[in-house]
Amino acid sequence: MVTGGAGFIGSNLVLALQEKFPKARLTVIDDFRSGDFKNLVGYRGDFVAQNLATLDWQDQFGEEKFDAIFHLASITDTTLHDQFIQVHDNVESFRRLLNFARPTRTRIIYASSASTYGPASEASAESNGAAPANIYAFSKTIMDNIAIRETKESPDWTIIGLRYFNVYGPREAHKGVPASMVYHLAQQMKAGQRPRIFKQGEQKRDFVYVKDVVEGSILALEARESGIYNLGCGQARSFNELVDILNKCLGTKFVADYIDNPHAHYQNFTEADLDKVRSALGYQPQFPLETGVKDYMNWLYPENAK
Ligand SMILES: NC(=O)c1ccc[n+]([C@@H]2O[C@H](COP(=O)([O-])OP(=O)(O)OC[C@H]3O[C@@H](n4cnc5c(N)ncnc54)[C@H](O)[C@@H]3O)[C@@H](O)[C@H]2O)c1
Repeated sequence: MVTGGAGFIGSNLVLALQEKFPKARLTVIDDFRSGDFKNLVGYRGDFVAQNLATLDWQDQFGEEKFDAIFHLASITDTTLHDQFIQVHDNVESFRRLLNFARPTRTRIIYASSASTYGPASEASAESNGAAPANIYAFSKTIMDNIAIRETKESPDWTIIGLRYFNVYGPREAHKGVPASMVYHLAQQMKAGQRPRIFKQGEQKRDFVYVKDVVEGSILALEARESGIYNLGCGQARSFNELVDILNKCLGTKFVADYIDNPHAHYQNFTEADLDKVRSALGYQPQFPLETGVKDYMNWLYPENAK
């Protein structure tokens, strides 16, 4: 089962699971609030169009049992400031799913977020306290708190939280503004415009390619115990570096157009400390920014692929 399977990471995960486990019976749940069916071209499984914040799992699935539930559905627009909707939909969706999975101890792998760390100036480790700076990050922090409590109360139940960092890659266009900066800058440059970045372009992000994120999420199927893990690339890279890499991939020579940053609470730095996830899940990212962006540009603009 994959919730949020019509979304960016979810659809990449669903298609990878289908390829890796061709005999598996896959079911996606999504209410299309940000996802798009076009992301699932070639998908051969079942699809339940339901809002997880109100879904009665028992009514929908009865005694049906799942080997594992990947829970990726979430409001992902971090600029949606309605505190009630963000927390209600994200947290109650998770709670309903846990209530369904608890009696059968079905393995849960859910998407948390690097945003739970808040402002940082060095690599974030999972042991760092949460410091959510917006309501989206707060909803993810509450999900982590619930998961930690559940696993303390039920040590025989495996629940894995994955703190994705700044994910980019195929099938993210439907997200619009919340899509990655890799996508937006590439689109601007492809349209013949100078890439617009905040002054002076030295803010850094742990940009992680979706293929690494999918691989790491699938590794969680084998995890022996519950835990919350970072899933990033492990390296903070600046927006200036990203523009250089895009120029190389697209064969352009654009100079960045530096604009004022209107955001008071802007994350100037994100980087995943990967020690824990390396040893617990055997996760090893395969796509440094140069390689990931190249692979992505070949997918986005096949006419450019060499
Ligand atoms: N993309 C990133 O960089 C990133 C970073 C950190 C965490 N995450 C997390 O990863 C997960 C996937 O994000 P994404 O980037 O693929 O975003 P996305 O918006 O493309 O995918 C989210 C999907 O969930 C669905 N959805 C949302 N609320 C729902 C509900 N109540 N019921 C049913 N379906 C619902 C949407 O329609 C969409 O298809 C999310 O949980 C997100 O918070 C993403």
